[in-house]
Amino acid sequence: MDTVDQLRPKLLERIKNTPEPREVLKADEIKRLYGAIADLDPSQRGEYGKSVNALKQELEAAIAVREAELEDSEVERIDVTAPWDVNSTLPGLLPAQQGTQHPLTRELAEVVDIFTRMGFDAIESRQIDDDFHMFGALNFPENHPARDGYDTFRTEEGFIPPAHTSTMQNRILKDGKAALEAGGQIAAISYGRVFRNEDVDATHEHTFYQCEGVFVSDSATLGQMLGTLRSFFETYYGQKLKIKTQPGYFPFVEPGLEFAIEKPAALGGKPGEWLEMLGCGMIHPNVLRAADIDPEKYRGFAWGGGIDRLVMLKYGLDDVRHFESGKLQFLRKFN
Ligand code: PHE
Repeated sequence: MDTVDQLRPKLLERIKNTPEPREVLKADEIKRLYGAIADLDPSQRGEYGKSVNALKQELEAAIAVREAELEDSEVERIDVTAPWDVNSTLPGLLPAQQGTQHPLTRELAEVVDIFTRMGFDAIESRQIDDDFHMFGALNFPENHPARDGYDTFRTEEGFIPPAHTSTMQNRILKDGKAALEAGGQIAAISYGRVFRNEDVDATHEHTFYQCEGVFVSDSATLGQMLGTLRSFFETYYGQKLKIKTQPGYFPFVEPGLEFAIEKPAALGGKPGEWLEMLGCGMIHPNVLRAADIDPEKYRGFAWGGGIDRLVMLKYGLDDVRHFESGKLQFLRKFN
């Protein structure tokens, strides 16, 4: 009969070469090793038993390795390398199929460009924020019903995917405070995605884009704000426009206004057809205080409005849902 040491290399070899490595544990040689215990002198049994068990453990380890190897070889190998040069034109694909900017990306860049040429800094807004920036810093009292007007989503951890770009106001004000107090002013826009838990229809999306503006100086006026907004809209639509305002309520501005333009005839509008474009007003003293800016010394205005709506008017689009639809037929119209 083979000894444990003689048997070891034979069994390991067998495991390496069989598609059923676990069967090796049932080999007659192993049964005989165990059977031999009974024939041994009791004083030798302990030592011998240990060496048989050690062999068995070694075999188990070799079986695990072999099983993993077998499993691996069953996985079909996939060639992840592209079978063409990605920098070359693909035969059979139209140029439009190679990808273009989304219309909202392109129009947003245009909006940012107009404001930066007017002297505004531009920063992208956050896509995940907190209760303080969404409400607290913006003069929404705890449990105030105005909070419900924003249909905010919340994560399980209590974070908020922002329902408006006004979440950036406190950060803009804090960042600009030093320059303001050194005799300068704060002039910045913030743009980005916002989210509302709304029923989706042709004019409401759960995900859309906004652009926010904040201006603070020692002498800012509502007249400057209206001039800034008129100038923006006339540049964006490339024509003179009629504008009007009416009172609007937002806890973070006082007075608060809704800003409308008359739908231009060139874009299919009739005289007297007004389109509300954004909310705006003079920044509430509590909002300045939340950024540690003294409302006795400084005044500011702010506005915020949807980008999707702006773009829909420019291109005569009738359904906001197109933007998030991913439909190529729609997207190709903007190439
Ligand atoms: N954040 C407001 C909204 O989304 C708009 C707004 C911005 C109003 C800034 C006033 C000042 O409805």
